Amino acid sequence: MAQSTKRIKSISFFLLLISFFCLLGFGQSNQPQTSSPLMPPAASTISIDVDNIYYLILAVTSFFFFLVVFLLIYFIIKYRAKKPGEEGINFHGHMGLEIVWTIVPAVIFIIIAIYSAEILQKIDNVPADAMVINVTGEQFIWHFEYAADGVKSDKIMHVPLNKPIVLNIEAKDVIHSFWVPAFRIKQDALPHEQRETWFQARLTGEFPIRCAELCGPGHSQMLGTVIVETETQFAAWIQEEKEKANAQENALSDSAKRGLDVIQHQGCMGCHTIDGSKLVGPTWLGLYGKTETLDDGSQVKVDEAYILESIRDPNAKVVNAFPAIMPTFGPEKISDDQIKDVLEYIESLGTTKSK
Ligand code: CUA
Repeated sequence: MAQSTKRIKSISFFLLLISFFCLLGFGQSNQPQTSSPLMPPAASTISIDVDNIYYLILAVTSFFFFLVVFLLIYFIIKYRAKKPGEEGINFHGHMGLEIVWTIVPAVIFIIIAIYSAEILQKIDNVPADAMVINVTGEQFIWHFEYAADGVKSDKIMHVPLNKPIVLNIEAKDVIHSFWVPAFRIKQDALPHEQRETWFQARLTGEFPIRCAELCGPGHSQMLGTVIVETETQFAAWIQEEKEKANAQENALSDSAKRGLDVIQHQGCMGCHTIDGSKLVGPTWLGLYGKTETLDDGSQVKVDEAYILESIRDPNAKVVNAFPAIMPTFGPEKISDDQIKDVLEYIESLGTTKSK
């Protein structure tokens, strides 16, 4: 008997040692710049708190997991039937033990609940001087609008370092979810209903944005990037974007401008880009005049007639390597005149000469 008590003591000591090391990891994320192999970089102020509670819960649950498994194995060996037909001792509970294993978890739960509530309050408490960015989720792209400057961007969100940023998040079509793992923030984007969340970046660099709600066939491609830069770099970027937008606007004819309005209103940019990059649908950069290969191997020249057909009846001639998922836009959605404006805009993005 004395020997088994000794063994239990050494096992308990070993378990305490393991949980001590878990807790060491938990304290570490308080130091700036460090991040654990379990988590993406802790790039926002709140991420340190979120990580701390995560590591606390991990340490507590690991300790009890190992304790239960070790005791289970120990008891299986110690109290096994040594001779065939041997019967175990009949137990009828143990008051002391039951009180301990009720009170100890209850106290741990209360501590975790209070700690979580404190962090939740921090997450909900938006600083009054925060910079506002409007975020719109749309199948399958994130749009950003910098409220103070009127600047807009798609897929890439620029933010200054060490400045509280509040995001007003909504969706244009279905439910999306705006998630920046490095900031430990995730907020559903609901159709026509604004939700708020905020963060303050503490590390410069590029961090991925994900959509965390299955929102359609392009869900996995609904990616983006947050670029955290110094205040000067951010101001320079805003200035540059303002000038670019002005220059673009001035270069367009009136008809192309109207076409751009239609395109933005109908949400075409969720699937088509104007910079040559590939989304769910073909890019419009240099599209006009191009010769495309269809699924059946036949070729078609992109002209007014083909674009018109592709808007009215998108599945008639689908370009090879693209899914046939474009919705139909009948005259009740886009009138013939509006299509002319859209064509004018697409043509303004450059034409390709084909043979
Ligand atoms: Cu948007 Cu998934």
